[in-house]
Amino acid sequence: DHTHADTLRTPIVAVLGHVDHGKTSLLDKIRGSAVSEGEAGAITQHIGATDIPLSTISGMAGELIDPDDFDLPGLLFIDTPGHHSFSTLRARGGALADIAVLVVDVNDGFQPQTEEAIDILRRTGTPFVVAANKVDTTPGWNPQEGEPIQRSMEAQSERAKSMLDENLYEIIGQLSDAGFSADLYWRVQDFQKNIGVVPLSALTGEGVPDLLTVLMGLSQRFMKEEMAIDVAGPGEGTVLEVKDERGFGATIDTVVYDGVIRNGDTIVVGGQNEPIVTEIRALLQPRPLAEIRTEKQFEKVAEVGAAAGVKIAAPDLDKAMAGAPVRVVRDRSVDEVVEEVKAE
Ligand code: GTP
Ligand code: MG
Repeated sequence: DHTHADTLRTPIVAVLGHVDHGKTSLLDKIRGSAVSEGEAGAITQHIGATDIPLSTISGMAGELIDPDDFDLPGLLFIDTPGHHSFSTLRARGGALADIAVLVVDVNDGFQPQTEEAIDILRRTGTPFVVAANKVDTTPGWNPQEGEPIQRSMEAQSERAKSMLDENLYEIIGQLSDAGFSADLYWRVQDFQKNIGVVPLSALTGEGVPDLLTVLMGLSQRFMKEEMAIDVAGPGEGTVLEVKDERGFGATIDTVVYDGVIRNGDTIVVGGQNEPIVTEIRALLQPRPLAEIRTEKQFEKVAEVGAAAGVKIAAPDLDKAMAGAPVRVVRDRSVDEVVEEVKAE
């Protein structure tokens, strides 16, 4: 069925950064603001990912965004852990991402896992922006809930402003030491040459409208062609985590970036020794928030189209590997797909 060919999919945004610099808080803020905008129903929580549609983003970004300027459907955020032991997962998230947010605590600046994330982004050539988080901790800060950052900065004392500036220029200097020319995002003309730094607070939400605007702009300008996919094509994804799940055995939390994966599909998954060929027993998604109190954590879905996160249950997945490719066989030969997976 080629009638749906070349639909634009949601860009995948990895959120990377050092432990405790505020990655999860930032996503909580984005989810929470959407809920208070009455957009809760519009947000879909996936396995390992959160889908924020354009309508919600434009609601949060207010005057900064004109939704008519965009035809990408929204942004799919992947949270990653900052703890040093999770370097594989960070590398996977970074490699899988179309774009990334590097979260840096504005007081702490670059730390070991910030450097590690920068290396991943450099190696994979992933465009990124820097979220200079926790601006609200600047001494004397006068919080401006949910406001664009430049408006918030106008409300600060000279002293607070110059303390923040000092921290921001420290980060810009560290980016430069790492080989990236960077500036405050509103001074950046060419986001392909310069990294935009967005000062913000995941706690008060100031600057979050700016971040969403920059991410939409980056995706629209530089990613649009890569986002054109055949939504009915054989699904392709990457394993984020291999997890034992009661009643299902070993399952793989997977981000699907192309095509569609259906229950019952034969898939080939990269394994510790050799590719695993297996048949999907269940595709699992988190239950909607309203139903979270039922004893079953997941609900079964018939199919999942890119871009999305999903938990795949199938026999023989115990030797699957985080970071490995997942490919639906569909109307190709198994051998052909096995070779494809080996070549990755
Ligand atoms: P890991 O997942 O462990 O790598 O950490 P993380 O980057 O997800 O950090 P998390 O969001 O868990 O935040 C760590 C701590 O910083 C929490 O106590 C947050 O409340 C706090 N925090 C995060 N963002 C802000 C912010 O903008 N302002 C203030 N004041 N505190 C923040
Ligand atoms: Mg976290």
